[in-house]
Amino acid sequence: RQTYHDDMAKTLYTEADISKRVVELGRQIAQDYEGKAPLVLGVLKGSFMFFSDLVRAVEPCPRGLTMDFIRASSYGSGTESSGDVKLKTDLKREKVEGRHVLLVEDIVDTALTITTVIRHLQECGAASVAVATLLDKHERRRLPYRPEYVGFVCPNEFVVGYGLDFDEEYRSLPYIGVLKPECYAHLGLDGAEPDGSGDSGDE
Ligand code: PRP
Ligand code: MN
Ligand code: MG
Repeated sequence: RQTYHDDMAKTLYTEADISKRVVELGRQIAQDYEGKAPLVLGVLKGSFMFFSDLVRAVEPCPRGLTMDFIRASSYGSGTESSGDVKLKTDLKREKVEGRHVLLVEDIVDTALTITTVIRHLQECGAASVAVATLLDKHERRRLPYRPEYVGFVCPNEFVVGYGLDFDEEYRSLPYIGVLKPECYAHLGLDGAEPDGSGDSGDE
């Protein structure tokens, strides 16, 4: 296999599918946050590509919209999330207090990550916290949770691209694809998920 493209069993969402949906989400968010000076908060690293496309699609852009980032990773070994989600941020409490926060995620899977981030923001005194996620893999929830803005309800498959990684690879692809089983067979994951599974591999 010469390129990342060769590792894809199929394309799930093309660049065109994604950009069409991102424009729809952006318009909805612009309407909902008019007059609310939202703090748009990207959850790194997975959300970086969706984040940059989404903020440009928030049109007409509400006055007072600002952006920041928070790093979240679940650690522990194995293929299932440990449930122990580590947050890293230099975001000060006073920057969150009283703000309408819109969290941006690439995927909500078990929901352990996003619920941890939400709890942190509530503790910082956010006026409201909502979530925009490109993918919602709701079949895998370990906690009941429904994001406010969802790009696509995603099947329970090995998805990568458009920010989503498998062991830090494939993030730069402009589309979302399903990985060929031979690409993860060596790990013996046996049908487990490459993302949202405590595999961040860099902490
Ligand atoms: C992935 C993904 C979400 C989270 C979803 O992040 O980007 O943040 O897992 O999984 P969950 O709903 O089961 O918690 P990861 O921890 O792999 O870090 P990354 O964003 O740097 O890839
Ligand atoms: Mn992530
Ligand atoms: Mg990851």
